[in-house]
Amino acid sequence: MSTWRPFAIDFGASLAHYFASAKMVRNAGETPIPMPRILLLYATTEGQTELIAETVARSLREKGHSVEVLPADAAREQADPAAYDGVMVGASVHFGHHPPYLHKLIRRHGSVLAARPCAFFSVSLSAGGPRPKPAAAQRYLDKFLRKTGWQPQLTASFPGAVKYSVYGPIKRRVMIVFVGLGGGETDTTRDYEYTDWDAVKRFADAYAQCLKHA
Ligand SMILES: Cc1cc2nc3c(=O)[nH]c(=O)nc-3n(C[C@H](O)[C@H](O)[C@H](O)COP(=O)(O)O)c2cc1C
Repeated sequence: MSTWRPFAIDFGASLAHYFASAKMVRNAGETPIPMPRILLLYATTEGQTELIAETVARSLREKGHSVEVLPADAAREQADPAAYDGVMVGASVHFGHHPPYLHKLIRRHGSVLAARPCAFFSVSLSAGGPRPKPAAAQRYLDKFLRKTGWQPQLTASFPGAVKYSVYGPIKRRVMIVFVGLGGGETDTTRDYEYTDWDAVKRFADAYAQCLKHA
């Protein structure tokens, strides 16, 4: 019977490598097979994309994968996608755009990403919520991929959230108008989450399949 066993930590490796330390599957008498190590970068403003990234990571870890989750802005200098077997990126949409710094990050590592199984997910209110606009959500995603020249094997658009509790006064006013025009909730005494968590888990499963066939 095969068992998952944590592989010995390479103490010479960087901290990033420590957290992403490879797991190995060991069959009796056979050479250990390294489990894929995945880098999951997220770009969030109000935190929903981070929650989605953590859910994807949890699903993959349950399957025995080693996943390192990092904020993409901090990862600009730190993370080396070449040190991983697969790369996932998630980013939210504000005023019709994913963050410009992410465009630069993706372009910089374009050749490394092209050589690995990759996935991208976009988070917006167009993808779901009180009055979804799936065509707009798809346009945001397509525009991001066109501008970066990136062709991940798997993409998805997930509905995000309206978080009045974390908005400053100006953003709250903007969102009351934006959400109100879309027929959404404008009672600012609470937050509204539209993310379909089952769809997020299915996305993680589909990426695990991608890794298997890579
Ligand atoms: C100031 C602001 C502008 C936004 N602009 C858009 C937009 O243009 N299109 C859209 O579909 N959603 C838009 N949203 C909704 C966000 O994409 C959604 O709230 C998402 O959950 C944010 O994810 P984050 O918490 O990871 O940043 C906007 C939200 C805010 C606060």
